[in-house]
Amino acid sequence: MNRPTDPHKFTQASSATGTTEGYMPGFANDFETEALPGALPQGMNSPQKCNYGLYGEQLSGTAFTANPPERTWCYRIRPSVKHSHRYKKIDLPYWKSAPCVDPDVISLGQYRWDPVETPDGLTWITGMHTMTTAGDVNTQVGMASHIYLVTESMVDDYFFSADSELLIVPQEGRLRFATELGIIDLEPKEIAIIPRGLVYRVEVLEGPCRGFVCENYGQKFELPGRGPIGANCMANPRDFKAPVAAFEDRETPSTITVKWCGQFHTTEIGHSPLDVVAWHGNYAPYKYDLRTYCPVGAILFDHPDPSIFTVLTAPSGVPGTANIDFVLFRERWMVAEDTFRPPWYHKNIMSELMGNIYGQYDAKPQGFVPGGMSLHNMMLPHGPDKNAFEGASNSNLGPDKLENTMSFMFETRFPQHLTAFAAQEAPLQDDYIDCWSDIEKKFDGTPGKK
Ligand SMILES: [Fe+2]
Repeated sequence: MNRPTDPHKFTQASSATGTTEGYMPGFANDFETEALPGALPQGMNSPQKCNYGLYGEQLSGTAFTANPPERTWCYRIRPSVKHSHRYKKIDLPYWKSAPCVDPDVISLGQYRWDPVETPDGLTWITGMHTMTTAGDVNTQVGMASHIYLVTESMVDDYFFSADSELLIVPQEGRLRFATELGIIDLEPKEIAIIPRGLVYRVEVLEGPCRGFVCENYGQKFELPGRGPIGANCMANPRDFKAPVAAFEDRETPSTITVKWCGQFHTTEIGHSPLDVVAWHGNYAPYKYDLRTYCPVGAILFDHPDPSIFTVLTAPSGVPGTANIDFVLFRERWMVAEDTFRPPWYHKNIMSELMGNIYGQYDAKPQGFVPGGMSLHNMMLPHGPDKNAFEGASNSNLGPDKLENTMSFMFETRFPQHLTAFAAQEAPLQDDYIDCWSDIEKKFDGTPGKK
């Protein structure tokens, strides 16, 4: 395995007192950070000459006139035009983009997969395996879900996606994302967001590494509206961490791979593009510790919709109807009285892709294992299996803590199409549909029967 970079070889800004070393707290704050003193212009963005001979450059994540605009000013050793040369198309057969409707693949069904094994020799780029796609990458709507399988660090290789921001959910191993705007180290129970257009390199800190990615073609993820919940609980803004500025001044032949409208191209340059010495703005990568998510739920009876567990939401054009909701099912107390406590049976216009980070999910005591995934596509019924139903219907309803459980859902308004990899190569559980087959009819017309 290639050795990860020593972060001390980066010149990195220092952190403010009371914050996590290497990170700045807050969600979509207007951050400012410099790795060398005086590198950041004050009171203006574009001085006639920048300090240290740096080049000023803006990275815009929204249209100039969007409200609020999301952009970051970078002060860098070379402008990005020096990190881009002629492009050569390459094939990455396992990384698919929507629309990707395979005539030989049926997406109408309830599906569940065992964990995909991690083979040797894959990087962040070659190890991305698409499971589902939804919407259309060219019109910037919808998403794709991937499993990443990574054992090798990128060395003089870099990547950016013009198509999407990536929501990364590690399940095994630790990764370092060395980005233009700083360094994010990521491990299971954390997530990271890498914004569209940001250049980065991914290194293995502890492998093998496996996890899930939601590739968001649409508007950026934001915090959900809290409504009557008010200002606290769920995901709190201070728990999101953006990296401090860090740069390397490395003159070595390097390759940048670009994802653009579903295709991949490479370009060759003679240096590292991670050369941003200082930056300020609100368009930045960040990470979030899922253990800081404060769940709220039923405290007397009934079971709220799973939207109560939304960590982040990526809006579509229809208010309340997300392009993607990222939903977390974590440890929590169950206290509702006279209530069927697991998720109820239902059909949903939204399409639900779930992954298990660790432990056991309450609606499916067996079969949905850490590293595994399931898909309940648009308007297809699902719910507890017989054991979960009987257990929840007959248990004594004292306060009960769900321990050792962390699963998530990528829920989208668009139907999710399976890739050939998901349908034919990944370890699909052929018998998943049978988990409901032994649910029996109880009704015989007798009043009062339960
Ligand atoms: Fe569901």
